[in-house]
Amino acid sequence: SPATTTVTITGAGGQIGYALLFRIAAGEMLGADRPVRLRLLEIPQGVRGAEGAALELQDCAFPLLRDVEVTDDPSSAFEGCQIALLVGARPRGPGMERGDLLAANASIFGPQGAALNATAADDVRVVVVGNPANTNALIAAASAPDIPSDRFTALTRLDHNRALGQLSAALEVRPDEIDRLAIWGNHSATQFPDVSHALVRSEPVADALATRLGGRAQAAAWLDDVFLPRVAGRGAEIIEVRGSSSVASAANAAIEHVRDEQAGTSWTSAAVVSRGEYGVPEGLVCSFPVSSDGGDYRVIEGLPIDDRARTRIDASVAELVSERDAVRALGVL
Ligand code: NAI
Repeated sequence: SPATTTVTITGAGGQIGYALLFRIAAGEMLGADRPVRLRLLEIPQGVRGAEGAALELQDCAFPLLRDVEVTDDPSSAFEGCQIALLVGARPRGPGMERGDLLAANASIFGPQGAALNATAADDVRVVVVGNPANTNALIAAASAPDIPSDRFTALTRLDHNRALGQLSAALEVRPDEIDRLAIWGNHSATQFPDVSHALVRSEPVADALATRLGGRAQAAAWLDDVFLPRVAGRGAEIIEVRGSSSVASAANAAIEHVRDEQAGTSWTSAAVVSRGEYGVPEGLVCSFPVSSDGGDYRVIEGLPIDDRARTRIDASVAELVSERDAVRALGVL
């Protein structure tokens, strides 16, 4: 029978943590044949919340769950860790400037990267969920010099799934009938959800939209004026309607991100460390269309990028560059 996989979740006492733990323990992330050991990292104020979740995990009597440990010490949380979901982050408080937010998160993701470097397993894979996710991943990777940087990713699968949801409603097809959609750039309002390579039942999405909406101009207008702002602004829409941020959908996306990286996929979106693909400066953690052969996510190369896409990708990458420069100015990188 397969060996037990050690999974560390930071911020495990928070909302996304609560939506993640039970699905991971039920086998939805790694498969119904892979036992898991959970390590839950919290700050001291969050430890009771995580301990409560651990009690409930016991009460589920999951056959795959081998062990649960709650701690506020990063070194023991990452001991032997093979999959790290870095969820806990410092949210933007009232009146907090972007520089303050980046600094507060650098003081979380720097030490966590260092702790991963010191104690994680050789095959560790890390996904950052806590915002600003791309730059937090950059900081964690930079703080873990012995871990190959392609092991660090940031979550844009929620944006990818949101885009699939919108397209599937507009085209009246199932989400799994749409393929080759891409999220480029930062997990922020500047992201570019790109349908230019996407297919619906093997037909270009652009053609299907033009047929449905009455022409190419109408399709282009819908993409710019409806689809793109809806996807990029979905987090705010959820807060406004639900009165609370995206939690279950974020946890679902994190599970699918890890599942597909481990099981392999021919196409999804994830933020990975750029090697200069598509002109994105090397070292930035940027969302791209990616594939996996069961190891790490790799950028799908060679796609044609038209002027509209180029402009939008460049704008989001410029934001990533400014976040990186702000972190550098703090002396973190
Ligand atoms: P939450 O506030 O309910 O939970 C966060 C938890 O992290 C808290 O329990 C807190 O005590 C803990 N925490 C804070 N600093 C920590 C540290 N240094 N070490 C360990 N734990 C720490 O927030 P929620 O709703 O669970 O969201 C978590 C993060 O996920 C937020 O940053 C949010 O912006 C982000 N997010 C990212 C999405 C994405 O698509 N990338 C989507 C939705 C949310």
